Amino acid sequence: MCGIIGYSGVQNATSILIEGLKRLEYRGYDSAGIAILHGEELAVRRSVGKLENLENLVRKEPLGGTVGIGHTRWATHGRPSEQNAHPHRSGDLVLVHNGIIENYLLLKHRLETEGYRFDSETDTEVMAHLLASYMKGGQSVYDAVRSAVGDLQGSYAVAVLCMSEPKVIVTARSGCPLVIGKNGEGTYLASDVTPLLVHTREVVFLEDGEIGVLTPSSISVTGMDGRTINRVPVQIDWDADAAEKEGYPHYMLKEIHEQPQVIMDTLGGRYDFDTGEADLPDLAISPEDLIRARRIWIVACGTSWHAGLVGKYLFEEMIGNPVQVDIASEFRYREPMIQEDDLFIAISQSGETADTLAAAREAKRRGAGVLAIVNVVGSSLAREADGVIYTRCGPEISVASTKAFTGQIIAMYLLALHMGRVRKILNIEEGRWWLDQYMMLPGRVEHVLKQEPNILASAKQYCTKKNFLYLGRGINYPIALEGALKLKEISYIHAEGYAAGEMKHGPIALVDEEMPVVVLAPRDRLYDKTINNLMEVRARNAPIVALASEGDHDIHRVAEVVFPIPDVHPLLTPILFTVALQLFAYHIAVLRGLDVDRPRNLAKSVTVE
Ligand code: F6R
Repeated sequence: MCGIIGYSGVQNATSILIEGLKRLEYRGYDSAGIAILHGEELAVRRSVGKLENLENLVRKEPLGGTVGIGHTRWATHGRPSEQNAHPHRSGDLVLVHNGIIENYLLLKHRLETEGYRFDSETDTEVMAHLLASYMKGGQSVYDAVRSAVGDLQGSYAVAVLCMSEPKVIVTARSGCPLVIGKNGEGTYLASDVTPLLVHTREVVFLEDGEIGVLTPSSISVTGMDGRTINRVPVQIDWDADAAEKEGYPHYMLKEIHEQPQVIMDTLGGRYDFDTGEADLPDLAISPEDLIRARRIWIVACGTSWHAGLVGKYLFEEMIGNPVQVDIASEFRYREPMIQEDDLFIAISQSGETADTLAAAREAKRRGAGVLAIVNVVGSSLAREADGVIYTRCGPEISVASTKAFTGQIIAMYLLALHMGRVRKILNIEEGRWWLDQYMMLPGRVEHVLKQEPNILASAKQYCTKKNFLYLGRGINYPIALEGALKLKEISYIHAEGYAAGEMKHGPIALVDEEMPVVVLAPRDRLYDKTINNLMEVRARNAPIVALASEGDHDIHRVAEVVFPIPDVHPLLTPILFTVALQLFAYHIAVLRGLDVDRPRNLAKSVTVE
């Protein structure tokens, strides 16, 4: 999740861009850069790491000029480095980009045959050369942007500056946010309103498929077809803190609501409908090794471990491969019977969790191929693993993990499909069928998010309770664990997650009218068994909150509250149930007046044992 900024006006652009980038820092970044146009010179300054590194560089090598663009990068393609930092240049033009160009390899080959040389590992540089190639044919920057976007697949918010049209910035979006605004001293663009608030409170939000043209005194918006769009500016009343959270009261809620986008981004460009295959370029584990792997090991901590448990059910059912899931801190100190041909998967949002890293090193030492499913590009785990699948969630700021979990599961859906295809367990038709199912998920998650008012109402009903029991079966047993973990870590309520069939073997002793039981009850082959468990709960007068398949009326006979969850294949239900449970935990914690984003005693990244 990068941040972009631009200014065209009469003031010194450098300080406006740097101040703007500071306000985008909260989005997370690993490098930053600016480009300023001054007279005959288009100068670029980029640096890795903290923004103050860029500030120091600019102090040492100052830039004059009143037009410029800037960027904070959160790496997706290519590690964090100066070469990969934006702005990217092609001849007389520079460009900053937020998003992912899915067909960049195809475009790169095309441009290489036209003679363009690539200096970075990014997908963005492709766009810079693409624009340059259109401009070589005599097009203006605006026309080149219109032509280039027709070639692009994926998501983008871009800003382009070119020496041939000084003072003009052309900007466009598809799938990534972009805001523009104006005051008496110039015009501004940014990834969100946060950097704009000090300059103006009247902004225009660009929509997908729109192009903005900024000059020092005007902003105009057109569609890709060139027709003018008259958009009435929106008045923003948020303070800077609210703006960073895009109007949500907490990062956790914002991140919960980002999950449809996370699913699209993590799937983006990683599938091929023609062949029914998943395309995982960073996997770096050969099809032969994937075929040879007799056993899959999944190792992680906390929420990532729960994602790993979902993976067990998934890989076993979808591709018939035995899977062993371990808590990283346990794995590293026992004698795991891991063998050379085994595939070892380490899952981590941060890529810096000490136990997960140590477990991955141990697996490597024992000869296993290590695959990391990681969110943070360039993190220790990503660097040390043989192959990586990045979950493209953007920075997760709230301590309680939400969207990273969803990204991890999507990554495993892709891997299961890939393994199924290379092992010829799934044919083309089946591969396509699975891809169709995956593609439905963002819409289904939106549907769950729309139920937030009902979930809030139930949170009000139960927020004073002291103990909760979460029950699930099969692939939703780990979701019972995750639901309980979310509740305990942010609301400080004692909550236990259990396999529903285990209830009779102990926890039922706890059940009484004071203990709400949250149950995951999709209409799958285990449904009747789950209902039997609920009857036992009911007999002890415990209130039941059921998450059930839409259209399941029978469940109302046993449950006090029902959240209907849209229909998907049973193996895809975990994401939908999790989103509902995240909202439930979130609202209970808010109702109890707690600091949801920074729960006591917890750290976002556990880099020590
Ligand atoms: C729970 C949570 C933690 C992390 C765990 C692993 O909400 O955030 O349980 O999942 O500390 O962290 P990563 O995924 O960074 O290895």
